[in-house]
Formats: sequence, structure tokens, C-alpha cells
Amino acid sequence: MSDPTSGNRPAISGRQELTNYGDPGFSQFMRRAFAKGMGYTDADMRRPVIGICNSWSELNHCNRCLRDVAEAVKRGVWAAGGWPLEFPTISLGEIFLSPTAMLFRNLMAMDAEEMTRAQPVDGVVFLANCDKTTPAYLMAAASADLPAMVVTGGPMLNGRWRGQDLGACTDCRRYWTEYRAGTISDGDLGELEQALFRSAGHCMVMGTASTMASITEALGMTMPGGAAIPAADSARIRFAEEAGRRMVALVEEDLRPSRIMTPGAVDNAIRVLMAIGGSTNAVVHLLAIAGRLGIELPLERFDDLSRETPQVASMRPAGKFQMQELFEAGGIPAVMRELLPLLDGGAMTVTGKTVAENLAATPPSLRPEVVSPLAEPFAPEGGLAILRGNLAPRGAVIKHAAATPALLQHRGRAVVFTSLEDMARRVNDPDLDVRPEDVLVLQGAGPVGGPGMPESGMIPIPRKLLEQGVRDMVRVSDARMSGTAYGTVVLHVAPEAAVGGPLALVRDGDEIALDLANRRIDLLVDDAELARRQAAWTPPPVPAASRRGWGWLHATRVLQADQGCDLDFLRADWQG
Ligand code: FES
Repeated sequence: MSDPTSGNRPAISGRQELTNYGDPGFSQFMRRAFAKGMGYTDADMRRPVIGICNSWSELNHCNRCLRDVAEAVKRGVWAAGGWPLEFPTISLGEIFLSPTAMLFRNLMAMDAEEMTRAQPVDGVVFLANCDKTTPAYLMAAASADLPAMVVTGGPMLNGRWRGQDLGACTDCRRYWTEYRAGTISDGDLGELEQALFRSAGHCMVMGTASTMASITEALGMTMPGGAAIPAADSARIRFAEEAGRRMVALVEEDLRPSRIMTPGAVDNAIRVLMAIGGSTNAVVHLLAIAGRLGIELPLERFDDLSRETPQVASMRPAGKFQMQELFEAGGIPAVMRELLPLLDGGAMTVTGKTVAENLAATPPSLRPEVVSPLAEPFAPEGGLAILRGNLAPRGAVIKHAAATPALLQHRGRAVVFTSLEDMARRVNDPDLDVRPEDVLVLQGAGPVGGPGMPESGMIPIPRKLLEQGVRDMVRVSDARMSGTAYGTVVLHVAPEAAVGGPLALVRDGDEIALDLANRRIDLLVDDAELARRQAAWTPPPVPAASRRGWGWLHATRVLQADQGCDLDFLRADWQG
């Protein structure tokens, strides 16, 4: 590309946005001079600029593999005639962030969107891996709407311990529960610490990171097959190089996310979510992505498509296998090949071809015990359901595929924890008045109250019940739970307790009814009493993390779970 203000000198990037000195020619001159200062030539500058947006961080275990991925993408970009320029954003590692990575998903999305817009790039490859990094980048791609694709770093290899496969973090939770129950020792726990995380990559069960990588593929925003390749497999690097090559063509075709992430593509993503028994967190993230795109997505769409979509992949925690086996079975293309009669096969993808065209040469599953034929599914419908009732007038989510079937129609006495701190203080108290048939309730863990809606919805079973052999109870909260977690857990109750939702009105001893068959969650207290409690309700104190800076902005503008917990002013329908 040439700069019209400077003869035939190159213009960096085909986009016209410039640093504003009030003199466009000077802006281009300065760009060229500084790029020369980095060692680039005029020939480089005539190429389309491909931003490589990298969430690599040493404080994000799952994204540490992204440096190698970035180098491979760059090789592909150079080979195809582009000019790759890598830039960082903040990175969100689930395990190291306080109070929860979700508090910062929207901040990462804003960072990536703004830097994509402000810098002279013609298109962007977003490098993501851990749970929140993938949806944050999809949200950024949707809002910036420049040609873009996502390349994930891939899952870890299976952990191994005493002859069995381990999965992070389903087995982290399972063995921690056994440790609390006294059935495994300190020494066992030490061995598990060494065995769970065998390689680079994200958690290898169908937790949120695996689910979001799979959904990215179903949305058409990454190249086919990209979700399941293990981080440690050389195929991951070859895939990344191929993505870099394709990205240059994506820019030449001006194929933007708004043409790829259509309502049909969002439905495809929901169907794949159901077919793989994916994470409840995907509901929140897809609602946020749809909100960025201006796509109407009522919560009931998840329930409707769940009822119509057989579960064809047997993935932990809802099934038996992990991402390594899914890769061997043929990855998400094998899943989508089976689902094709239910999918929008005409949806466009980053390959420049439709979903149906991409799948035309895909062979059947190579491991039918992992990915089954559509006619012989592992379950006749998807694993998630949307509940409503007087306890959740704006909805709640349950992953019934990972629950105890006998608890899915249940009435029990509420045992209420008013905050995360209250729960931590009392849940193991030997004097806690709790029985196996009770319903554990956690208030104050929603988007505002948490703050950031932490993954604390899998409320720990009280120790005295654990010691009696109890491993599951009905639990209800406005929190999320990790996609690697399991149990009869009702999540995302909206509106949340901290803004005065009915969850705030539950008291110890109230009766709660979970009725999965009728998609209901109800507090069996009469309306007059609830009205009295509502009138007496006062908001809880503002958490320290929400009193200034990002925390304050988040707390004052975050939407409820039924709208994806995005900030109101980032949605497509925002009237600024
Ligand atoms: Fe990153 Fe599990 S901690 S995916």
C-alpha cells in the first residue's frame, strides 16, 4: 500500500486511522521511521499488517505455551505475504487471579478491542487458552469487527497417577473432597500435585477452556480441528502456521467477524455446547458475545436447543474422556460432522468456506466410544437446562448431565450462607445444622456481589456429611462453577442477591423445590411473607474490590447473568 501524502512511500496498514498530529503525511512519515527503527523495510511495510494479539503470561499457566504458537503464526503470515506484528494484552489465569478471573474478562475484552482499533493492523490473530481469555477475545473481535481469527494454545495431555488418567480440574476437586473426607493422605495429595499437570496447555477435561475452544470452532472463528490438538503435540504448531497463512487471505477477502458470527453460527455453537456436555460458563460467555453482535439470544434458546441436540461426545465431567481422546477421535470436526443435520451448514467460517463445505471431507469418528454416531448418542439430549421460578425470575442454569439423577426432583430445607466469607467460616462447623436432604444456598456471589461472579457455586459439602459418605446435595447460588466441576448445582440465579433478587430473601429452614422436569426452581414461602422480607431488605456493604478503579466501573455497569455479565455500554444496543 502507498501513502498518498508522500509520493510512492509505503503506508503502514490499509486502514487510515493515524496518530493525530494534525498532519497525516507527518504521521505516516513517523510511522515509517519508527518501523525502520525496528529493522523493517519498505517491502515489509507494503504488506498487510497482521496483528498477533497474545495473552502469553508467566502468571497464566495455561497461556505459557503461546510464545511458540505466536512464532508459528508469524511464519505463516510471512509466508503468505503479510507482515506479522505481535502485541500483548492482559492475560487471565484462573488459578492465580483474585478474587476471580471473571471479574476481568470484560477488561481484557476492552483492552483487546481498543488496541485492535487503535493500532495500524489490517486483521488480528488472537492467541488465547485459559477459560476467560477465549471469550474475552471473541467479544473483542465481535466489537472491533476487523478480519480476525482465534488460535488457542490447546489442552494439556492427560495426567497420570497410579495407572489411571487424571483430568484437571475434575480430579483436583474429586481428590480434594476425598482428602477432606479423610480417605486419602497428605502423601497422596503430594503425589497428585506432581501428577495432575503433565504438560503445557489448558485443563484437559471438557471444562470452560475446552468448551470455549470448541465453541470458537463451532462459531467458525478458528480453523477446523483447532480446539482439540494437545498443546504438546507438534500438530498444534503446524496448525498455528496454517492459521497465519490463512489470516492473510482473510484480510484480502475482508471477511469480518460480523459475517461469521451470525445467529446461525451462534445456534451452531449452542448445539456443539450441548453435544459435548460443555461448561455452564459457556452460557454466560455466549450471551455476552451475542450482545456484542446485536444478536437476540434469550436464555430459553439454550434450553430449546439442549432438548433437541443429542450428546454425541462423552467428555468429563459429564462423560468418560478428555481432550486427548477427543483429538484422537477427530476433534470437533468429528462432532460437527455428526451434528450436521441439525446445524446451519451455510454459516461462513474463517476458512472462507461454509460449515458444510469444511465438513465435506471430514471422516467419521475414529473412536466411536468418544464421539458417537448421531443415531447412537450417549444421551438423547444436551446436558444443560434453564430453570425459572420465583427464586430465579430471570433464570438459572443447571448442568444436569453432571448431577445426581435422584436429586433432580427434590424438595429440601434451605441452609443459607449469606456470603463467601460466611460459607468459608461455617461450612465445616461440626455444629452446623445440616442434613443430607437439605439444600445449600449461597448468597452474594453474583456479578456485583462476588464481585465478578466467582466459581464458588459448587458449595463444599459440609465436612460432617462428607464423613457420613455424602458426596452430592442440591446447591443453589448466584455464582458460577468451573466447567470442570460437577454435582446437583443450580447456578447463575438472576437477579442476584446483592441487587435484591429473591435469592436474597431465603432464610434458614425455608423449603426450596428443584423440579428439572418442569424447569423450575422455587422458594416455597408465601407471597405475603416474601413481600415483607423484600420491604425489609437492604443492600449489603460494597465489597472493598468494588470501591475504586476497574472494580468500581465493573460493579456499577455490569449486567446480570442472563445478559452475559457484560458491561452495559459495550453491547451493540448501547445508546451512548
Ligand atoms: Fe486455565 Fe483450567 S486453569 S483452563
